[in-house]
Amino acid sequence: MAGIKESFSGISDSGSRISISNKKKKIFLFLIASFLLVASVIGIVAGVASRKNSSKIPSSAHAILKSSCSSTLYPDLCYSAIATVPGAADNLSTQKDVIEISLNITTTAVEHNYFTIKKLLAHEKLTEREKTALHDCLEMVDETLDELHETAEDLKQYPNKKSLDEHAEDLKILLSAAMTNQDTCIDGFSHEQADKEVRNALLKGQEHVYHMCSNALAMIKNMTDTDMAEEKLKMGRKLGESTGEIDGFPGWLSAGDRRLLQASTVTPDVTVASDGSGNYKTVSEAVAAAPINSNKRYIIRIKAGVYKENVDVSKKKKNIMFVGDGRKNTIITGSRNVVDGSTTFHSATVGQ
Ligand SMILES: *[C@@H]1O[C@H](CO)[C@@H](O)[C@H](O)[C@H]1NC(C)=O
Ligand SMILES: *[C@@H]1O[C@H](CO)[C@@H](O)[C@H](O)[C@H]1NC(C)=O
Ligand SMILES: *[C@@H]1O[C@H](CO)[C@@H](O)[C@H](O)[C@H]1NC(C)=O
Repeated sequence: MAGIKESFSGISDSGSRISISNKKKKIFLFLIASFLLVASVIGIVAGVASRKNSSKIPSSAHAILKSSCSSTLYPDLCYSAIATVPGAADNLSTQKDVIEISLNITTTAVEHNYFTIKKLLAHEKLTEREKTALHDCLEMVDETLDELHETAEDLKQYPNKKSLDEHAEDLKILLSAAMTNQDTCIDGFSHEQADKEVRNALLKGQEHVYHMCSNALAMIKNMTDTDMAEEKLKMGRKLGESTGEIDGFPGWLSAGDRRLLQASTVTPDVTVASDGSGNYKTVSEAVAAAPINSNKRYIIRIKAGVYKENVDVSKKKKNIMFVGDGRKNTIITGSRNVVDGSTTFHSATVGQ
């Protein structure tokens, strides 16, 4: 056995130096290759790990998070607070989601502050004033937790629990109070030089919560302002539909016609006056005389008066516009008021 081994090694040693050096080269190259491979694997792992912290967030969630946070005073904190909690951004689809998760993270931060205060209270070398102030801080923590809880509950039912105004008002009051609590806690340690140590131990955590609440408040303001503006617009449109008026003109009037009527001088093509001072005595006569299939607006001015007639405007009489002397002054009464084929004549009263 040993002989065989020796002979083998003898062969390799004596007979093929070149091949050995080749083998060494190959091994060396293999090692380099492995190193590169390992390096690249490490690189990939490192890349994944670093992305996990910053942007391993679905792109849709990233966009919502980014735009929601842009309305805050501390946008970087707003973004990173959520981005660094694994899975927190997974299901983000609305600004409201961002606010809810922010509130959750803020609650966790307040709880963290609670333990910080408890730890400080366990210290023996505290002045009476410091002890009192720390107990005040615990109370502030308690209140803040209540306020954040109430905010989250109110938000959960937003916008269905009450009016948008009330939601907005209540949410803003709750978060403002939560912010004030952080200040109140810190203010308890501003009396003596000795207080400074405790104050410094608390400051970072309290400020963090303050900034988080400020961000939630800004996002809530943005959301409720946006929703209220939209609601106002919708109500305005509905109001416009129900009273049929825009700028005091019937809603069915086109913008061009509204401008035409708003212009101080509307030059009528013909005038109807029951007293005979116009081109025609009745509206029907004026309509009958109007051009057929006109491409141009044909304006019939109807002077103040009461016209007891049914006005029929056939489909062929396109583009006729009636201009009265005000809805109280120009009144057309008739058993039939619906005028076929006209877009401008909606009812028997003629507005101006
Ligand atoms: C809400 O925030 C967005 C993004 O910052 C901004 O473009 C928009 O104007 C804000 N809306 C209101 C009503 O403040
Ligand atoms: C996100 O939604 C999925 C499916 O709806 C759910 O299974 C998952 O638990 C949610 N993740 C978080 C963090 O809420
Ligand atoms: C907030 O936290 C509570 C419990 O800590 C959890 O049940 C809830 O799903 C969280 N909400 C969000 C939006 O993450």
